[in-house]
Amino acid sequence: MSSCLQSVAEQDADAGDAHAEANQQLYNHFTNLVSSLPSSNGQGLGQVFLHSQGWHAYQGPMVGAMVADACFASRPTDIIVATLPKSGTTWIKALLYATVHRAEHPPDAADHPFHTLGPHECIPFLEFQLYTSGRVPDLGKLPDPRLFATHVPFVALPRSVVATPPGPGCNCKVVYVCRDPKDTFVSLWHFINKVRAKKGKEPLSVEFAAEQFCAGVTPMGPYWEHVLGYWRAHLARPEQVLFFRYEEMQRDPAAHVRRLAEFVGLPFGAGEDGAADAIVRLCAFERMNELRATKDGKTELAVIGAVDNSIFFRRGVAGDWMNHLSPETAQRIDAITRSKFQGSGLITCV
Ligand code: A3P
Repeated sequence: MSSCLQSVAEQDADAGDAHAEANQQLYNHFTNLVSSLPSSNGQGLGQVFLHSQGWHAYQGPMVGAMVADACFASRPTDIIVATLPKSGTTWIKALLYATVHRAEHPPDAADHPFHTLGPHECIPFLEFQLYTSGRVPDLGKLPDPRLFATHVPFVALPRSVVATPPGPGCNCKVVYVCRDPKDTFVSLWHFINKVRAKKGKEPLSVEFAAEQFCAGVTPMGPYWEHVLGYWRAHLARPEQVLFFRYEEMQRDPAAHVRRLAEFVGLPFGAGEDGAADAIVRLCAFERMNELRATKDGKTELAVIGAVDNSIFFRRGVAGDWMNHLSPETAQRIDAITRSKFQGSGLITCV
């Protein structure tokens, strides 16, 4: 089993100097551009830059997103997972990969790829894993359907992903997952403090982090504009953009797996009784948390570096914010959510 990332690593070894120099020039160009943008100290892993489209990111992923915008050639058969960090990316990646590849890798098989590869190796991020470190990978040789992920807002998706007017079979598909902002925030706060601890830095207080979150100064934030961007895209192009909520996935994961399968054009057939449930079991938090790929594996991400795959698994429940946020902070986030989502048709958990 060779992952998309392994194939890109093999290309790196073969890449000629001329290519490497041209790629580096492209990266230098966008790095200079990002360096000229307004920035602030953000949420604890370095400078956060404000893109002219209104979203924030650390320098590396913003540059990676710009390179992907310039170079990524999408195919109508591609499927892209889009999320804000800490919205359930790892879970939806696992569900999507297991669903798409269920014929060659039955979910109950003892040698399923998940035993050796984490979901982030099976479905890499464009701006955190593929378009990083001066690299412009040749993704053209990857077989269909290619599966990628991104944290960028809808407005910042590579132009080839959204270029063609919407219509059946015209553009690649996008699967978006949103999560209650309070849980997204709490999960992000824990994650950043774990990375800070690894770097020998003091933890951020929840009050400081919440202040930044409410001000929109979070990786790929503001939270609300990110969610609204994909929600509106889903309303405008339902055949291209699927919109899931983490909390609803928790309530009925099998129904979501069936919708996902239909959306990507691979509905469960008559002979597949129990297949959706088997995928749900394989991708369940408790199961994935126990896998060797989770316990021993690492993922290399822009900005953060190599992290243990176990960092992507904490509690995996809805409503954990209650254990960490003061009533005032929770009410403040809820008030922003109500005012930003008002009139959008987006049903929230608040
Ligand atoms: P918590 O920190 O609230 O536990 P992301 O994958 O976008 O980085 O999000 C991480 C969050 O999703 C973490 O939330 C993590 O525990 C949870 N998560 C990871 N795998 C999951 C799974 N298989 N099922 C449900 N939640 C999962």
